[in-house]
Amino acid sequence: MNSSNSERPEGKPVSLWIATAATTGYPAASGDVEVDVAVIGAGIAGLTAALALKRAGRTVAVIETARVGTGVTGHTTGKVTSLHRLAYTELARRHGTDTARTYGEANQAAIEHVAAVVAEEGIDCGFRRVANYTYAETDDAVARVREEAALAARLGLPAVFTTDVPLPFPVKGAVRFDGQGQIHAVKYLQGLAAAVNGGGSFVFEGTTVQKVRDGSPAVVVTERSAIRALDVIVATNVPFGGQGLFYLRCHPHRSYLIAGRVDTAPLDATFISAEEPLRSILTASAGGSSYVLIGGEGHRVSEAGDTAGRYRRLAAFAHDRLGVAEIAYRWSTQDGIPLDGLPYVGRMSPTAKHVYVIAGLRKWGLTNGTAAALILRDILSGQENDWASVFNSNRITPAASTGRFMQENAKTMAAVLTGKLGRRPSQATLAPGEGAVIKVNGESTAVYRGADGQIRAVSAVCTHLGCTVAFNAADTTWDCPCHGSRFTTDGSVIQGPATRDLPPRPAP
Ligand code: FES
Repeated sequence: MNSSNSERPEGKPVSLWIATAATTGYPAASGDVEVDVAVIGAGIAGLTAALALKRAGRTVAVIETARVGTGVTGHTTGKVTSLHRLAYTELARRHGTDTARTYGEANQAAIEHVAAVVAEEGIDCGFRRVANYTYAETDDAVARVREEAALAARLGLPAVFTTDVPLPFPVKGAVRFDGQGQIHAVKYLQGLAAAVNGGGSFVFEGTTVQKVRDGSPAVVVTERSAIRALDVIVATNVPFGGQGLFYLRCHPHRSYLIAGRVDTAPLDATFISAEEPLRSILTASAGGSSYVLIGGEGHRVSEAGDTAGRYRRLAAFAHDRLGVAEIAYRWSTQDGIPLDGLPYVGRMSPTAKHVYVIAGLRKWGLTNGTAAALILRDILSGQENDWASVFNSNRITPAASTGRFMQENAKTMAAVLTGKLGRRPSQATLAPGEGAVIKVNGESTAVYRGADGQIRAVSAVCTHLGCTVAFNAADTTWDCPCHGSRFTTDGSVIQGPATRDLPPRPAP
């Protein structure tokens, strides 16, 4: 039974960035629309690509199923950095130092692109330059941090090893990257959207794409419109539909964040731990208050466990290590981890003609997504791009990914079997706020009792490929353990690859 008897964790269940930004109100797409480039998804990758293409002289239409910034980007930490924990050691081992250097160059250039766009468009998103650290508390980890610092410096990145780490608890050392950044993620996206909209270009919200037809022109079909474009970019985190098999090539990984209100910001830098359990630490100002953000407790989506407990462990860290008295917000998000560690950017499949994809941003989407968008701007403008071959969505890197492919898809199969064969209650007595998958008239049904005592029942069969969803008590969502689709308790899709809602079912 997928229900929780755990005490609810502290904090409102909403992202700090979404809670402290205005709401946008772009219209839904209707009728026939013609542009040079249609971009599906108003997150960091889609909006950055749209604005870059508009600045290159193209007309664009951005199509968002919900509101600008309410997807994965609206649930990030806000770190804009090329220091991705210990990524360079990992990438050099798997792909060689040239590939690690290209990844670093692309992400470092992404920071500068964000800084330039903020200045040129006058976006009020609290962009500030900070140093970013990966810190170590043990001898073993400090050796790995030293290695990362030396390698990153050799790759031309702004890296040093230091034992002078401005955290309020003792650590043994860290790799520090200077000149990094942080932003209010939703305000940045809203600034991008404002710059995109107008002059023959559009931002459409509340518009769900039903299908994309490749061709000349390509056509994006929505409920009430047909958007014709020379090229289409799918920037929806996990691309919908089966083309390119990205749901097999990126495994969805969930992470959790909390924001604790503080009187004065205690930190003037951003941090992540080298050891497990991972802890991401930063200070942010939003809505007139200062916050300490703690992230971590990440896991593959099929291994959710006690989500309330995950928030509680982050809160305990905030209380014990950073003196945070009150947790104001908590939220979770998912991102695709590519099998070989590199994002996928390029054509949707080897046979695609005018449909392009950005996926697998490995939880560093503010820079990887920006770099990916600049690659597609160049490709669609007929320009050379030095990073494109490393990020190529149709690359074949068997040595770096075959073993991981087998492992990850074996875990997905285990999740499928657990869902199909697991013990199910024949009836449920649910307290308010609890959910469970039960059999109703022989059908797997996802049943939730709201705080008002009302029962809501929807099909428990994920509309992507038929796995059984599970209840996430801390976030009050139905989550699919196979490829990461998430649904509200009313069955609406929050996150793909599923594109169709869970249909309603009779209450038990
Ligand atoms: Fe693929 Fe649910 S996300 S089956």
